[in-house]
Amino acid sequence: MAEAIEAFEATLLTPDSSFDLYLKGDNNALTAEQKEGLKLFMDKGCATCHSGINMGGEAYFPFGLVERPPAEIIAGDTGRYKITHSKSDEYVFKAPSLRNIELTPPYFHSGKVWNLKDAIKIMGAAQLGAVLSAEEVDKIDGFLKTTTGVQPKVEYPILPASTRLTPKPKLD
Ligand code: HEC
Repeated sequence: MAEAIEAFEATLLTPDSSFDLYLKGDNNALTAEQKEGLKLFMDKGCATCHSGINMGGEAYFPFGLVERPPAEIIAGDTGRYKITHSKSDEYVFKAPSLRNIELTPPYFHSGKVWNLKDAIKIMGAAQLGAVLSAEEVDKIDGFLKTTTGVQPKVEYPILPASTRLTPKPKLD
């Protein structure tokens, strides 16, 4: 089952976002403001954790590296500590990929934050100890939205007809 799910997940590619076109050399794929957002994303340090071609998904970090996020956002989730029981894993989570991020609210493990700009502000304070101005948040938000690519079309398979030998589901 794990192999089947992996094979399916490998088809979930979202190519040709404006950011990808920019990376491929189309200088006009991003507006001046979106480029400023990209610069902020790198200069402020977001890209240290949300790194690589997927802008994340590569490593674990404490949520609240500099400043503990509000308790209602952590919502009692101690992260990897629940699995490893090691003190150093308390509130440690995977830095997720930020590609297509505008399409996947709510944000954080708790799912308590629905607005991308709020998530950006929280990250600035909790992970970088930086108070991002409204203008900076707007620009980073604008940049992150350029990572939305062409979404995959999922075709549902038609399963073969049941036979006398097909196990019946247990319904009780
Ligand atoms: C020290 C590492 C680190 C830095 C620096 C960092 N992040 Fe994060 N980021 C994380 C981790 C870990 C999570 C996952 C938290 C969770 O799931 O509860 C996360 C989650 C997010 C999310 C929510 C993603 C989702 O799918 O729920 C967004 C958006 C985000 N970060 C944007 C940013 C931005 C913008 C910056 C820079 C201002 C930034 N991050 C800086 C580690 C970091």
